[in-house]
Amino acid sequence: MSNPSPAGSAGGNDEGDWSLESLAVRAGIERTSYGEHCEPIFLTSSFVFENAAQAAARFGNTEPGYVYSRFSNPTTDAFARRLAALEAMPACLATGSGMAAILAVLMTLTRAGDHLVCSNGVFGATIQLFNYFERFGVTTSYVPLTDAAAWRAAMRPTTRFLYVESPANPITEVADIAALAAIAHEHGAQLVVDNCFCTPFLQRPAQLGADIVVHSATKYIDGQGRVLGGAVLGSEAYIRDQLLPVLRSAGPSLSPFNAWILLKGLETLGIRMREQSANALQVAGWLERQPGVERVWYPGLPSHPQHELAMRQQKSGGAIIAFSVRGDDDADPRRHAWQVIDNCRMLSITGNLGDVHTTITHPASTTHGRITPEARRAAGVGEGLVRIAVGLESPEDICRDLSRGLRG
Ligand SMILES: Cc1ncc(COP(=O)(O)O)c(C=O)c1O
Repeated sequence: MSNPSPAGSAGGNDEGDWSLESLAVRAGIERTSYGEHCEPIFLTSSFVFENAAQAAARFGNTEPGYVYSRFSNPTTDAFARRLAALEAMPACLATGSGMAAILAVLMTLTRAGDHLVCSNGVFGATIQLFNYFERFGVTTSYVPLTDAAAWRAAMRPTTRFLYVESPANPITEVADIAALAAIAHEHGAQLVVDNCFCTPFLQRPAQLGADIVVHSATKYIDGQGRVLGGAVLGSEAYIRDQLLPVLRSAGPSLSPFNAWILLKGLETLGIRMREQSANALQVAGWLERQPGVERVWYPGLPSHPQHELAMRQQKSGGAIIAFSVRGDDDADPRRHAWQVIDNCRMLSITGNLGDVHTTITHPASTTHGRITPEARRAAGVGEGLVRIAVGLESPEDICRDLSRGLRG
């Protein structure tokens, strides 16, 4: 972020005119004097100085240049620059995971006595993290994601930010991002959007008014289930003056090796999002026709409650589908959902999503298993709910795998 490369940018001066596809493979490159074509990995914990005076100047920020990879490294910076270009946001810092990114936002925006508003439906660990902050005097109100009046009513003079995922994990509810930005700004608060399910290829929250965007790069940005990573994007002043000092002191850093994996992941993100969304649309339509399926949630289907909003706000419905399995056993409502999962031979039973391998999970007992039963109910996470993250296998094979358990 702060360090000019010896060789300057390999992208030339017209990055501003490039399409998302070009930015994904070209933005953020700073070629070294060796003239390498592929971005190098700077796997080093620290950087050496010419002399003690230069060390003091670098530590004191009076001279630009790298110091220590806990808070700056050329490879992690290249990843951050490329992601900022894709999100069309002024600045970005990478973190070691998506949760580290959310933690860093909480640490920068709140202090004891402050309040935030979050939708009922978000990733389970995010709710856990917000609740953990109650011990530091930061409280959270949870509201139904699609109820603008409820967001408005929850605002207090101490509300620092509104937090939303769209589509939300796991039932893919879609938030009106522009409307939430307006509510936040009317009250002097900020809107923070977790753009994990869409990525900048399907939606750019800043263009809809979001102030801060967070990512779990572990998901679609990697896309092949290899590494953990995260990112926070915002204004130049926020990233430089608020976020960087917190990351420098707290240290939830991204490894340069992981940053390199994610940098290469960005290059194929667009085609993966397009293909995986098309596959998901086909699988979701098929699921809706199965007698063993009670209900399907997929923003790309007309049956989704926010379908029109999703089609206005996103380029496609994305690749996450939630569905509830019809059951006849009230005493054990999860039995039928587990039966679908356990009968899969190709789909991977795992909590991760965004992979080219289709993954399947039972949110109530995994990703949302640690939140209270009331919070699960409010988030629409029933015992019969199954979540799949559609990958690059053929949709026919995915449907065939699911049909085994649905038939019983
Ligand atoms: C929407 C969303 N945000 C954040 C996270 C957390 O990301 P990470 O696992 O990289 O910490 C997840 C993880 O599943 C997620 O689904």
